[in-house]
Amino acid sequence: MPESSVKSVLITGASGGFGLEFAKQMEPAGYRLILHGRDKARLQMTLNALKHPDRHRLVQSDLNARHGLSELISSVENEPLAGLVNNAGFGIWGSFEQTGIVPQIDVIKTDLKAPIALAHALLPTLLRHNGFIINVSSLAGEYPLPYMSTYAAAKAGLTYWSEALRIELAGRMRIVTLAPGPSPTGFRNISGMPHSTGSFFRTPIPVIIHAGLLRLEKGGGYCIPGWRHKLLFAMQKTVPRRIGLGLIAGNMRH
Ligand SMILES: NC(=O)c1ccc[n+]([C@@H]2O[C@H](COP(=O)([O-])OP(=O)(O)OC[C@H]3O[C@@H](n4cnc5c(N)ncnc54)[C@H](OP(=O)(O)O)[C@@H]3O)[C@@H](O)[C@H]2O)c1
Repeated sequence: MPESSVKSVLITGASGGFGLEFAKQMEPAGYRLILHGRDKARLQMTLNALKHPDRHRLVQSDLNARHGLSELISSVENEPLAGLVNNAGFGIWGSFEQTGIVPQIDVIKTDLKAPIALAHALLPTLLRHNGFIINVSSLAGEYPLPYMSTYAAAKAGLTYWSEALRIELAGRMRIVTLAPGPSPTGFRNISGMPHSTGSFFRTPIPVIIHAGLLRLEKGGGYCIPGWRHKLLFAMQKTVPRRIGLGLIAGNMRH
């Protein structure tokens, strides 16, 4: 592919976990990947894991810092963007009462505000390049989650916004709302959630990302990857809430 026809894809949170896997699975399509994160060393490891590191680019910015979002937006100003993968995110495990308000608001900034702001700023370019958006939400957005209440609220917001946008832009842009359950990324260590919680539903990272990209190929939509996550979703939708909430609280409390 001649260099001038190469289109770019911005992947937020590309320094590990799902972001790294998105990079690996999207590179063969010929995109120039703009790999975003905060940790330079780990971003460099993502770049080193790719087949054509020279084609791609790293961008560092903290989505919770005062100018982090605007710096990221201006850094891709001149890119022929055909894709935005809103993947960066984190959660905090613990009681609402005993968790500081600053990190909880930061969850909302990174997991909900940033994807919406990025999509809005980059929409004209994405539309011009017949592009797409993948919003990495969570099954946490399908059910209240005691001891991770703010995270679930942010992901519920992300899912609702992403699905509404998908319908608004139908026929003009493909949008995927990816809603995984537990998976072995760095997420648990950062959130502080005990490793045993929800372990039966844990699904390999490549399976999740492959399912999301397949959904994109098929024109976009809501995607619950793998049979374990589909089972979890079915339970969320069928177990009466008065029972389900108690079960989840017991499991999450530890
Ligand atoms: N793993 C799961 O069980 C699971 C399940 C459902 C949904 N998800 C969602 O999947 C997405 C990816 O998470 P992951 O599981 O791959 O976890 P991860 O391995 O911890 O990766 C999270 C990524 O987000 C970036 N990030 C976090 N806060 C940021 C901030 N303030 N500014 C810029 N970048 C930030 C991190 O960058 P640095 O490391 O450079 O700071 C990292 O690259 C998240 O949206 C998460 O909510 C995860």
